[in-house]
Amino acid sequence: MTVFHAELAGVARTYPGVAGHPAVHALGPVDLGLVRGEFFSVVGPSGCGKSTLLEVLAGLSPASTGTIVFEGAPVAGAVPDGIGVVFQEDASFPWLSVWDNVAFGLRRAGIEPGETERRVREAIAFMGLKDFAHAYPAQLSGGMRQRVCIARTLVLRPRLILLDEPFGALDAQTRLLMGDELLRLWRETGATVLLITHALDEAAMLSDRVGAMSARPGRFIDIVETGWPRERDSRIVAQSGFGKITGRLWTSLREESLKALGHAHGAAAG
Ligand SMILES: Nc1ncnc2c1ncn2[C@@H]1O[C@H](COP(=O)(O)OP(=O)(O)O)[C@@H](O)[C@H]1O
Ligand SMILES: [Mg+2]
Repeated sequence: MTVFHAELAGVARTYPGVAGHPAVHALGPVDLGLVRGEFFSVVGPSGCGKSTLLEVLAGLSPASTGTIVFEGAPVAGAVPDGIGVVFQEDASFPWLSVWDNVAFGLRRAGIEPGETERRVREAIAFMGLKDFAHAYPAQLSGGMRQRVCIARTLVLRPRLILLDEPFGALDAQTRLLMGDELLRLWRETGATVLLITHALDEAAMLSDRVGAMSARPGRFIDIVETGWPRERDSRIVAQSGFGKITGRLWTSLREESLKALGHAHGAAAG
């Protein structure tokens, strides 16, 4: 029997109706077991419940049914120690320097100053931000601001890193290079990674496994094992097996994406 690093069993989430709006069944039920140290990506049509899945797994949003377990303990009500979250939106604080942004979580957790300084220096160097430690977010490119956000999470030394479309706002080339950074981070920290993305190529390139979700309420309709070696980078997009993986993902998702657009019968041409 596999002991999963994190596991969701029968997890569903319905947002209660408010002010005359009906309740929204956003997710599931889903079952998902993340193997310790794996890189798992989730793709699915817009609005299918991907962010909801991440929030429920992180303990940020309550499951309506089912159980979530991280490192053997139930998750409910708060982000467990050991889980780090990187959100889609640039969540850096514009009024703090890069250094203070990265130090923020450690200071708030009351970590002693010497240890905070060591860890911040390490995370900043790891993310290639050394020359910008005293810059402010507005002085950085979008890719660098996203690196600040990753450094902020990394400094807490998470064993499970959850990322919600972290590169969504970046251009295609920068996304590929940020993907390489993420692979390096994954390899060198040994963390388990769950990446939410709308980009099939990103999922296919980065992951050990990719879960494709149905239209809302999202459930897994396919899970693809890529078979990539642990030592890999964005050059994988040129390999022949790469197109097979993105092709299979799109075959699963096409109908679901049409549903999400309101074309329930797949009436669109082509
Ligand atoms: N706080 C909320 N209250 C009510 N409905 C919500 C809330 N958050 C998300 N939803 C709805 O749940 C569904 C799934 O949302 P979400 O998980 O954000 O999807 P995705 O990340 O896949 O785009 C959507 O229909 C969305 O409108
Ligand atoms: Mg989302």
